[in-house]
Amino acid sequence: MRIELVDQPSTVVERSAERVADLPWGRSYLTVSPDHFRVDYVINPYMDPSEQPEPERTREQWHGMLAALRDAGARVDVLRQRGDSPDMVYAMNLGLPFTRADGTPAFLASHMRYPQRRAETGSATAWAEARGREVAYVGRDGVGAHVEAGDLFPFGGELLAGFGPRTEEAALAGVAAALEVRVRGLRITHPGMYHLDLAFCPLDERRAMVCPAAFDDESAAALLAAVPEPLVLDEVEALTFCANSVVVGRTVLMPACPPRVREQLEAWGFDVVLVDVSELHKGGGSIRCLTNPLDVVVGRDLLHVPGGEVVGS
Ligand code: ARG
Repeated sequence: MRIELVDQPSTVVERSAERVADLPWGRSYLTVSPDHFRVDYVINPYMDPSEQPEPERTREQWHGMLAALRDAGARVDVLRQRGDSPDMVYAMNLGLPFTRADGTPAFLASHMRYPQRRAETGSATAWAEARGREVAYVGRDGVGAHVEAGDLFPFGGELLAGFGPRTEEAALAGVAAALEVRVRGLRITHPGMYHLDLAFCPLDERRAMVCPAAFDDESAAALLAAVPEPLVLDEVEALTFCANSVVVGRTVLMPACPPRVREQLEAWGFDVVLVDVSELHKGGGSIRCLTNPLDVVVGRDLLHVPGGEVVGS
C-alpha cells in the first residue's frame, strides 16, 4: 500500500530538533500574601478604585497560584503584606535578589517611582537582611534614580533593563555597578506595558516571549536581536498579561494563553498551566508581578563584569 504524503499548510509554529537548555533560575520565589490588597490610587492604566478586588476570591486565587508554583517544583517564601502598602502583593517590584560572583547573597532594593509604594522597601530590606542578604541601593527614599525590579531580567548573560515609565535610564549605571554585570537598557514607550515583565518573558536559554510594540524601534530591534528564538507577541496578545508568566523548568504558569502562543510553547516542549489571578489584575499585575525569583546568580545567569557596564541606551 502506498501512503500519500499530503503537503501541510505552512504554519508559524516551528518544531525544533534540538532540546534547548532550561533556565537555571526560577525555581525559588518570594511572594507577598494579599492581606491588604486594594486599589487605593491610580499609578497604571489598569487601576480603578471603583473596581475593588473581592478579598475572599483574591485569597483563593493567590493560594491557587502558590499551589501551582509548588506543583511545578518551585520553592516559595511568603512575606506578610503591610497594611499601608496595598500594592505590596506585587513582590516582583520589591527588589532584585541575586548572588554575587563571590557567592555572597545580596538584594538590590527597588527605589519605587511612586511614593505610594516606597514604604514597601523597608519591609523588603528587612526580609533580605533577615535572610543574610547584603542590601544594595541605587536610590532610596525619593533621592536618586528610580529602579523597579519588574524591569530587570537576566537573559543571554546580560541583565535586560526596561526603562521609561518606572525605572529611569539614569539608574542603569548604578544597577550595573551594584551587580557587576552588563546591563542592556531598553526604552519602554507603551503605557500599558509599564514594566519589562509585561512585554518580555524568558523561557529557556534561547527563547523568550517578546512584545516589540512595548518599546521604541531601536530597543525593540535590540531585544529581538538579543533573543535567538523569540516568540513574538502582538499588542493584543501582550495585553492579556500572557508575558507576565513564570517559567519553572519546562512549565509555564500563565494567567492567559492566546491559542497561537500555546501552539508555539507546546511545539517547543513547554507545558502550559493556566492560573486564574484575575482579582489581582485589578492592580495592574499578574503572575510574574506576584512572584520574585530568588535564585539569580552572577557568574552563571549573568556574566561577571567587574565594575559593571551599560549598553544599548
Ligand atoms: N499596581 C502596581 C504598580 O503599578 C502593579 C505592579 C505590577 N508589577 C509588575 N512587576 N509589573 O506598581
